[in-house]
Amino acid sequence: MERLVSTQHNPTFDPVGIIREKRDGRAWSPSQIHQLMENYVAGTFAEEQMAALLMAVVWRGMALDELAAWTEAMISSGRRIDLDALGQPTVDKHSTGGVGDKVSLVLVPLVASFGAAVPQMSGRGLGHTGGTLDKMDAIPGWRSDLSPDEVMRVLGEVGCLITAASSDLVPADHRLYALRDITATVESIPLIASSIMSKKVAEGTKSLLLDVKVGTGAFMTDLAEARTLAQRMIDVGEAHGVRTAAMLTTMDAPLGSAVGNALEVQEAIDVLSGAGPDDLRDLAVAEAEVMLDLVGIEGDPGVALRDGSALQRFEAMVQAQGGDPHAPLPLGRKLATVRADRSGVLRRLDARAVGMASFRLGAGRSRPGEQVSMTAGITCEVKPGQSVTTGQPILVLWGDDPSLIGSAEAALAGAIEVGDSPPSLPPPVLERLGC
Ligand code: URA
Repeated sequence: MERLVSTQHNPTFDPVGIIREKRDGRAWSPSQIHQLMENYVAGTFAEEQMAALLMAVVWRGMALDELAAWTEAMISSGRRIDLDALGQPTVDKHSTGGVGDKVSLVLVPLVASFGAAVPQMSGRGLGHTGGTLDKMDAIPGWRSDLSPDEVMRVLGEVGCLITAASSDLVPADHRLYALRDITATVESIPLIASSIMSKKVAEGTKSLLLDVKVGTGAFMTDLAEARTLAQRMIDVGEAHGVRTAAMLTTMDAPLGSAVGNALEVQEAIDVLSGAGPDDLRDLAVAEAEVMLDLVGIEGDPGVALRDGSALQRFEAMVQAQGGDPHAPLPLGRKLATVRADRSGVLRRLDARAVGMASFRLGAGRSRPGEQVSMTAGITCEVKPGQSVTTGQPILVLWGDDPSLIGSAEAALAGAIEVGDSPPSLPPPVLERLGC
């Protein structure tokens, strides 16, 4: 293994010793962490060695000071954006991802309409949850690849944007995430916390709301584990001077009614127009209140949804990013309808299964870089707790490719439960943490 490592430029660097220390449960010093990350970025700490080290972290974890140093070392691998020139309070939001989670599309312009700058650098979807950029791509002409100058221009002119993080922002994370993906080392609280928080700190926001989803359709199904992840991310944010709060929110059923790219944009626009489903609007308002609180701005987000100011800001943001906010969205055809096989109350509509079915219709990707369909998706015509009668539509499948209906329907096996008594549903917001 040593032959893979050049020690010429790093006479004091002992890569095998560093791996062994974590393997044996000892903590690293900040200088060891910086040294190993610098050598990884420079190619003198091999991928095989990083893979072994990541597995040691999965088993042994990291103390908070290690995690803060690891995150700092990741940030130092690239550019760090300075938003001070905007002269406005900055606040962003990160969601760990859920089915039908289009809250960012509403929240970004909504919070900006109160005078905060919202620099949302977002990602693409993988698997059964969609990505914000994939959804926004449904808007004709809209561009996610803003240059650094464009980022500052759009933020200055409109006060908000949704853009892809450029490749020079935490480049170490691009490599580490790809390596974790193929070495079964994604599921580690310090590795997840550092991956998410390094990108948020590097994008320059001074305040941050984390929406940690919990439930069948989320990355985290266990409340205690979600709480630990949220607290770790808050600790890392605060260690880097970012005021950070978290909300643990329920993700057992899809959020809102629409799942799929263009369908979700349409639903977000409905909420921005003062309509749309209650659960989506209420969560967007609750999250906006916390974000405004983080930057010390008073205001009623519900009013900004009703009076058109949030919608106006959304349209200005879309236009500033090359899109046409008034062009028709690429909505697909109705491909199939899933109906209630008895009368009663919808007790369960499994978020993961609906997300998988939408993915199989073409709305999601299984590999980074894969194309996704803008038109494919599912609408939930009934939500848990509502009554149904035999034959009533529960789900409608949308898209352009009828050959995908069979596999989408197979993903829905066992996803719907109609019973006699109403379910006891968890509250939409389970807990709040941080300032
Ligand atoms: N999202 C990220 O950006 N990183 C992770 O490790 C997990 C989810």
